[in-house]
Amino acid sequence: MSTESTTTTPRTTPRTTPRTTPRVDRHLTPADLAAALRDDVRRGLTATPKELPPKYFYDGRGSELFEEITRLPEYYPTRAERAVLEARAGEVARLTGARTLVELGSGSSEKTHLLLRALRDAGTLERYVPVDVSVDAVEGALPGLVEAYPGLEVHGVVADFDRHLHLLPTEGPRLVVFLGGTIGNFAPAHRARFLAAVAETMRSGDHLLLGTDLVKDPERLVAAYDDAAGVTADFNRNVLRVVDAALDADLDPDAFEHVAVWDADEEWIEMRLRSTRDQVAHVRALDLTVHFERGEEVRTEISAKFRPERVRAELEDAGLRLVELWTDEPGDFAVSLATV
Ligand code: SAH
Ligand code: AVI
Repeated sequence: MSTESTTTTPRTTPRTTPRTTPRVDRHLTPADLAAALRDDVRRGLTATPKELPPKYFYDGRGSELFEEITRLPEYYPTRAERAVLEARAGEVARLTGARTLVELGSGSSEKTHLLLRALRDAGTLERYVPVDVSVDAVEGALPGLVEAYPGLEVHGVVADFDRHLHLLPTEGPRLVVFLGGTIGNFAPAHRARFLAAVAETMRSGDHLLLGTDLVKDPERLVAAYDDAAGVTADFNRNVLRVVDAALDADLDPDAFEHVAVWDADEEWIEMRLRSTRDQVAHVRALDLTVHFERGEEVRTEISAKFRPERVRAELEDAGLRLVELWTDEPGDFAVSLATV
């Protein structure tokens, strides 16, 4: 793995207030990303049942589709989480006194402004560290951040939060945030490993702020992952476009239909791509031929939904103590504050 630092000059207009130039650390080079994709695609498309990991949804188009999803009438999680942050950001700032805000899977950093403003107003915030596997997400968020928070040190990191937590800035007290319910995209064993790894990097006085979507009426859940406008279907199929472009493959997005099902035993939504016919695809860069039977499904994502007691138990199992668990008024989404 190679690690490099670059400095990005923000695209801003003439300045009247001093602004610091954001720094971007890259713990993932394009070659690292390509190698990981090759391994995951070979493993996933030769497995039974077939699967593709959700981290490959997020190229430029996929990230835009995700942002579109967050505005859909059926997709309540982003609005619900924002409502919790609007109500509680001041409390988070008071309880954490954070100097460094580290955000894992930061995407557009849109909801994070609520926390940044509260910590700035409390007078403790010195630096913001958006961390994402997508270079576009990290670099795209920088100019707006520099513009909005003169004097704030913005230190972007392109990294895989499954592998690079130990390489993130450590100046404390730190508030590590993981929003959007993205932890629900991990299988239970993966979640346990991830939370233990986060806890391992935390020192006394550091906090974790974790967003988790909550169990609710399956009809609402399925609608949130199978919207009437078909945006989630397009997002789901985008993983095929990513594989096609990166690995010279000919998986045909039009030959797969989007499926979203609620698994009541596991309490997660599962997204799949179902082959609409018998077909053969070629992944030329891997010298791999893949057969799909009509009706065969490729699992592309799970999105686990939680009960508050499970959030507490999983945090405790990872060595973290729950300080507060807040929900929005209807109880759709939880934001939990934990410490070591
Ligand atoms: N936190 C934002 C975005 C959620 S979308 C919100 O709440 O709206 C999930 C984000 O996690 C995407 O930006 C994606 O690129 C990023 N991501 C997915 N897997 C990742 C990984 N393994 N390491 C780092 N970032 C990852
Ligand atoms: C990023 N993650 C929390 C989203 C979710 O709801 O699981 C990804 C997503 N998948 C379909 N719609 C949104």
